[in-house]
Amino acid sequence: MRQRPRRNRSTHAIRGAVRETTLGPEHLVLPAFVQEGTANSTPIASMPGHSRLSIDLMVELCGRAADAGIAGVALFPVIPDLDKGPRGLSAIDPENVNLRAVRAIKQALPGFMVICDVALDPYSSDGHDGVLVNGVIDNDETVPLLAAMAVAQAKAGADMVAPSDMMDGRIGAIRDALDLAGYSHVLINSYCAKYASAFYGPFREALDSSPRGGSKKTYQMDPTNRREALRELRLDEAEGADWVMVKPGLPYLDVIRLFREHSSLPVSAYQVSGEYAMLKAAGQNGWIDYDACLLESLTSLRRAGADAIFTYGALEAAALLT
Ligand code: PBG
Repeated sequence: MRQRPRRNRSTHAIRGAVRETTLGPEHLVLPAFVQEGTANSTPIASMPGHSRLSIDLMVELCGRAADAGIAGVALFPVIPDLDKGPRGLSAIDPENVNLRAVRAIKQALPGFMVICDVALDPYSSDGHDGVLVNGVIDNDETVPLLAAMAVAQAKAGADMVAPSDMMDGRIGAIRDALDLAGYSHVLINSYCAKYASAFYGPFREALDSSPRGGSKKTYQMDPTNRREALRELRLDEAEGADWVMVKPGLPYLDVIRLFREHSSLPVSAYQVSGEYAMLKAAGQNGWIDYDACLLESLTSLRRAGADAIFTYGALEAAALLT
């Protein structure tokens, strides 16, 4: 036999020399949940290993992530019911828990990247990413609120804003608002192909942010669609996105590859809460080797074409990789 592919797999050194895909802590972003209080940590049942953390504990967690070489944190706030309203206006209150957390993290760890989510759902009494008007999510009522929210986040010190709301035209509006306010250096990671996925369940439990009525299907993408992702890509590129994200991760590897082949922008992937929960649950039952499956799934996202990966397993993966 002339062709023996196994020769390239025969020793550790040979396998290392021909490895096509790399994965390191520098590719990873840790999503984390911040809440009010001091020394206050509340476990999230469906996300073992993750808790809602008060700002002091969040700064500690970010310190550990930075020490592990992780690129940054993606912050998601737990907003008290009293501060939720139909227009989610507490999102722009500089004293909300999210913006206080951004300031505290940047003060303690200036070089660590802080990424803020731009969407109304944690702040909305309806649990939607946009404003409900007569039972419909009103795109053009929502976009200026998102732009104001992004400016407030930039002002607090966020390095990157990440609109996850899927309203039309928001990337351009946010870019203009940031530039006008003097934040032309702040990056936009667009949740470009964000699908209406059932894998977000544990996240919504963590933030108590499930839609109170209806679904998110009038703004998040239909999981059946691939060409439509290309359309979103073209729009977000034209509107000034710096990174384009695909979300969820593993069930959408084909879309990550599509973006890699059609865009010269960095592509990010989000291994979402339900993906993490599946790995954890099977691992805790002894049905799979959690550590190995985590690294394999992250490697697959990189192989598909992702540059940065948002994963709840970032700290565990970083420890395994160093
Ligand atoms: C909301 C938002 C969601 C996630 C990130 N930002 C949930 C949703 O759209 O309902 C999900 C992340 C995860 O499941 O880990 N704007």
